[in-house]
Amino acid sequence: MPKYKRFRDTSVSERILDTMFLIAIGLGYLFAMGHLYFSNQGRDGEAGLSVEDVRIAYYGKHQQTRLGAALNGAMGGNLEFPEQKKIIFDWIEAGKDVDEFNDKVAPIFNESCVMCHSEASGMGLPPLTNYEEVLKLTEMDTGASIQSLVRVSHIHLFGIAFILFFVGRIFILCEMPIMVKRITVAIPFIAMLLDIFSWYITKVFPGFAYVVVISGALMGIAFGIQILVSLYQMWFYKPKTVPIEM
Ligand code: HEC
Repeated sequence: MPKYKRFRDTSVSERILDTMFLIAIGLGYLFAMGHLYFSNQGRDGEAGLSVEDVRIAYYGKHQQTRLGAALNGAMGGNLEFPEQKKIIFDWIEAGKDVDEFNDKVAPIFNESCVMCHSEASGMGLPPLTNYEEVLKLTEMDTGASIQSLVRVSHIHLFGIAFILFFVGRIFILCEMPIMVKRITVAIPFIAMLLDIFSWYITKVFPGFAYVVVISGALMGIAFGIQILVSLYQMWFYKPKTVPIEM
């Protein structure tokens, strides 16, 4: 029967090296979570990170432009007639033609909005005095671009695969039922792949934001277990039984 290496076969220097690596990687993971929180929380207008924030990050808010959101909210009350809202929305929907803007939309803004929304007002609000300024507030929010997802995907796959590989190499020196070990080393990789693929799927099917969150959490849990169990067994665990084959 072949003999497989366990923590008890490692030197103290090897264990110190492993411990330092696991601590650095574990802290790195916590900072990564912090970064995830700060860069995504509040996208839905509410403090804290939610599945809705994740959905908006990848799928965007298709019906939502900053101008539309404002008109559907408090700014609608500044219009002279409620029908003017439809004129503005129709103009956005029809492709934001510049002549139509000057004909129909600009007069509304000049009448009801520019007294506050202009440089001259000194209120520091986004100005609505010409076509270009208004255009900036009417871009459809379609979430992260494919280009940026591809960039983050390749960085994630290369970087995280390395981390998971080395953490997994250390973890397989633990003693535990063999099926538990086989499954635990595979889960973070599977979860990472699922997470990354579900970013793209969420761009098309916003409901997949749940899969992004669940697979991300699953990866974190399996990864955390590997680090903690390795640290524990490396220093504190005294095997009582004959080691099982690996
Ligand atoms: C009496 C001054 C006033 C008038 C008139 C006014 N606004 Fe505003 N507007 C504000 C203030 C103050 C805010 C920022 C606070 C808020 O969002 O409620 C704001 C915010 C906005 C925003 C959000 C900007 C962002 O950062 O996303 C938009 C868009 C907007 N207004 C459009 C309009 C339109 C269109 C009209 C005309 C129908 C209009 N406003 C009329 C004062 C005004």
